[in-house]
Amino acid sequence: MGLLIAGNWKMNGLGDRLGEVSAVAECARTTSGHNDVLICVPSTLITRAVEAGAGLVVIGGEDCGAGVSGAFTGDISAEMLKDAGASAVIVGHSERRRNHNETDAMVATKAVAARRAGLAVIICIGETQAQRDEGAALSACSAQIAASLPVDLEFSEGSAIAYEPLWAIGTGRVPTAGEIVEVHQSIRQRLTDLMGDRNHGLRILYGGSVTAENAESILELPQVDGVLVGGASLRSHDFNGIIRAADAVTRHSGDPLRRLRHAYETDR
Ligand code: PGA
Repeated sequence: MGLLIAGNWKMNGLGDRLGEVSAVAECARTTSGHNDVLICVPSTLITRAVEAGAGLVVIGGEDCGAGVSGAFTGDISAEMLKDAGASAVIVGHSERRRNHNETDAMVATKAVAARRAGLAVIICIGETQAQRDEGAALSACSAQIAASLPVDLEFSEGSAIAYEPLWAIGTGRVPTAGEIVEVHQSIRQRLTDLMGDRNHGLRILYGGSVTAENAESILELPQVDGVLVGGASLRSHDFNGIIRAADAVTRHSGDPLRRLRHAYETDR
C-alpha cells in the first residue's frame, strides 16, 4: 500500500475546470505508480471527472446521506455517488460537522452507508485550536475516532482516517513534524485498540494547509500514509507538485521498508 494523495475541491469547480483533472491524470501517468491519487469533487462533476481522470485518478464524493433513498430533499446517497462513478467519499469533514451540525454518530452512519455502497471512506477528525491550547488534542481525536468509526466495518483498501486540525485548515498554519507524529501515533494506537490487526489496512492521512512546498517534509514522516488537500488541489500545477513529492518519498524510502518500520513502531 503506497501513499494516498487525496484532493478535496469543496464547493469549487464548474465543468470548465475538468482540464485540471486531466492534467493530474497526466502527472500520475508519469510517476512511479506506487501511490494512489484521489480527487473528491462536487457531485455535479463526478461523472465527467471520472472520464477526465482516465483511470489514473480515482474520483470521490465529498459527503453522502446515510440512507439509500427516500424523502431527504437535496441529499445524495452513497449508492448515487457510486452510480455516478465515484469510488470513494469523505465523511465527517470539519466543515460538515460545523456548518451542518454533523455529530460523530451521524458520521459513523455515513461511513456505514459508504461501505454498504462499496465506496472507500475517508473519515475526518481533528482538534480545535482551543483543544490544542488546553493540551487536549490527543484526547479530542481519540474520542472522535471512538465515536465516528464503526469498528466492525470491513474497510476496503483506499479507506482512511484523515487527521485535520481545524486550526490548520485553510490557514497556512501547519503543525510541527513532532505534533503530526504524536497525533498520528496516538490515532494508530487507538485504531489498534478498537480494531486489532485489521487497522493495518486503514491509512492515516494528514490534512490542513498542505502545499507542494511542504508536502515532502510531511509525507516523509513514517506515521503519515498520505495527505488530504483542499486549496492546493484546485490547480493541477500545485496538486501535481504534491504528487511528485509523494513519489520522491516512496522512491527514497522504498515502500516495503517504510511499512515495516511503521508496523514495528505501532507494535511497541
Ligand atoms: P486546506 O483544506 O488544504 O485548504 O487547508 C484541507 C481540507 O479541508 O481538507
